[in-house]
Amino acid sequence: MKENWRVWDKDKEYGDLFYKRAIGELPEMESSKSLAKKVNEIIQENDRILDVGCGAGHYLRSLDKIIKTNFSYTGIDQTAYYIERAKEAFSLKVNSNSLRSKTDFKVGDIFNIPVDDNKSDIVICNNVFLHLPSIQKPLEELIRVSKKYIIIRTLIGASSFRIKQVEQPESYDLNGEPINYHYYNIYSEGYIQELLENISFKMDFSFEDDLDYDPSAFGNSDNFVGKRPDDLTTSINGIQLNIYILQPWKFLIIEKK
Ligand SMILES: C[S@@+](CC[C@H](N)C(=O)[O-])C[C@H]1O[C@@H](n2cnc3c(N)ncnc32)[C@H](O)[C@@H]1O
Repeated sequence: MKENWRVWDKDKEYGDLFYKRAIGELPEMESSKSLAKKVNEIIQENDRILDVGCGAGHYLRSLDKIIKTNFSYTGIDQTAYYIERAKEAFSLKVNSNSLRSKTDFKVGDIFNIPVDDNKSDIVICNNVFLHLPSIQKPLEELIRVSKKYIIIRTLIGASSFRIKQVEQPESYDLNGEPINYHYYNIYSEGYIQELLENISFKMDFSFEDDLDYDPSAFGNSDNFVGKRPDDLTTSINGIQLNIYILQPWKFLIIEKK
């Protein structure tokens, strides 16, 4: 099967941008700061954090800043170039005040995470689910490898939407489906709840709006991810507006029992 939705191998620049965030040349992302606060509320001494879809490990910078207890961190991403950049960033020892005992980065697929069952205490997965063609297996995988908590940041609303951003070169098949595209899917709370209820682990879960952001960071060219003016972004009551799509960011927080 041709997997057109996997766009990251073609986008080295995106990995370079993550690298700059990882080494402090660019500011931390707002989502990285708010995620780190959430992890800080639950982390215990010597916990193992697993970051799935870690890019260049740039969330580790925010975790290092806020967490005042010893922890280890493993970052997994399917894009080999991003993992190379992550290794480079964190071998520079930019975070010399960190209480981290161990850091590891490896290439791996969220559909088949190369980690044993219950191996990590806190599993994080940020801004990845919206870009996947399906989330059932990824959700099962994140829960399988976690011993205690799973925190997922993605687009969650009252209804589900399948959204494809059409990429260049722009062309369509005979059914009108784009050949090159990038998913921005929104899932309903109800669908996610149904998936969780069919997973055979005991757990509690909640959905939390991501309202913890600095409005001045949006539209600020230092924090600006896009290459085109229409990638500029703003936020209204926690719902991000990237010109075309209202993005209802939420955290799904799962606690295994
Ligand atoms: C939008 S970026 C998010 C990166 C980072 N977590 C953040 O929030 O900035 C999506 C990341 O997911 C990774 N990714 C995409 N599909 C994946 C898969 N099947 N398994 C693991 N990682 C994947 C991409 O390589 C990319 O680094």
